[in-house]
Amino acid sequence: DNKIQIAILGLGTVGTGVYKVLKKQQPEMLPKLGVEVEVSRVLVRNLERAASRVDDPSILTNKWEDIISDDTIDIIVEVMGGMEPARTYILDALHAGKNVVTANKDLIAADGHALMDAAKDANKDFLFEAAVAGGIPIIQPLKQALQGNYIEEIVGIVNGTTNFILTKMTEEGMEFKEALQLATDLGYAEADPTSDVEGLDAGRKMAILASIGFHSRVTFKDVYTEGITKITARDIRYAKEVGCRIKLLGRARNTEEGIEVGVYPMLIDSRHPLASVNDSFNAVFVKGDAVGDTMFYGRGAGELPTASAVVGDIFDVIKNMHFGCTGRIGCTCYKQIPMKNREN
Ligand code: NAP
Ligand code: HSE
Repeated sequence: DNKIQIAILGLGTVGTGVYKVLKKQQPEMLPKLGVEVEVSRVLVRNLERAASRVDDPSILTNKWEDIISDDTIDIIVEVMGGMEPARTYILDALHAGKNVVTANKDLIAADGHALMDAAKDANKDFLFEAAVAGGIPIIQPLKQALQGNYIEEIVGIVNGTTNFILTKMTEEGMEFKEALQLATDLGYAEADPTSDVEGLDAGRKMAILASIGFHSRVTFKDVYTEGITKITARDIRYAKEVGCRIKLLGRARNTEEGIEVGVYPMLIDSRHPLASVNDSFNAVFVKGDAVGDTMFYGRGAGELPTASAVVGDIFDVIKNMHFGCTGRIGCTCYKQIPMKNREN
């Protein structure tokens, strides 16, 4: 059968986006990939609530057993979020010989190395481009096109919700609470937006970028984080008066003394390129010893931009399956670089 079967776990903002993008890509699949792709199962909590989000509600299930025991399913797309049961389902899937694509930065920043090792042992793919900076390709460039560099520094705006809030407060004088509600309505914020506004989500993404960029094991607990909840309208006004903008920046440096990773609100000159990264857009600067400065820019959150990255990974898995090379592109070799003391 020339058809790849996919199961999506979770049908919220990202899951619904993935379903829509796969549907729109349907006519492209045979010429692009040489196979048809079908979403044959979707795991949800509430069958009734999810029914209107798919063409055929009979593909919905609220039982993981229906998916893990189905040998026709080749790829699991985990977009439920959270640590458990996502971690167990991903490990079960890899052990059962299924490839996995996920957008779950909480899990990867805490336990990504164990999951990549499991994928390597199972000789299956485990890809997570959507976990950092939504629709912007950044994991794959770090793993592939930039791997000939010694990466010295990665700096950027990697949280769409806080960038959206700061933009609305700066440009429109909007209140923090109102801007956060709008970001939530637009599907940018996490299920618990505390992780956005306290800088935790950005910290998780910086841990993932530092791990891949520096070929090291950096986890979320190694990252200093500070959010934007203490920023007042007065701070924003003063920043503007001196020709600056306040942005929540993530910074990872690979120094002779070790790796240093942190997230904090910073004043930046309004003429700096990062000052004009507004709304839910993200931007990531990567400095390599051979290439010099590179910048990646685009939509860092939301239904379709995030789905773009997830579907890109799904198509990569399919190509790897076709050429019999799954499980060989995960990062499983690491240098043990010490962490510098936490900033404070
Ligand atoms: P979301 O809108 O809250 O959707 C998650 C969905 O998963 C919800 O519909 C939820 O069902 C379902 N779910 C949770 N636990 C489940 C379980 N045990 N069994 C079945 N279904 C379950 O979240 P999201 O924004 O789509 O985010 C999903 C993942 O993508 C997260 O890891 C997030 O960090 C990541 N991500 C999000 C974005 C973005 O812009 N939103 C961007 C990049 C990455 P209920 O509705 O019943 O709770
Ligand atoms: N809540 C996240 C953000 C989603 O606002 O950036 C994208 O990872």
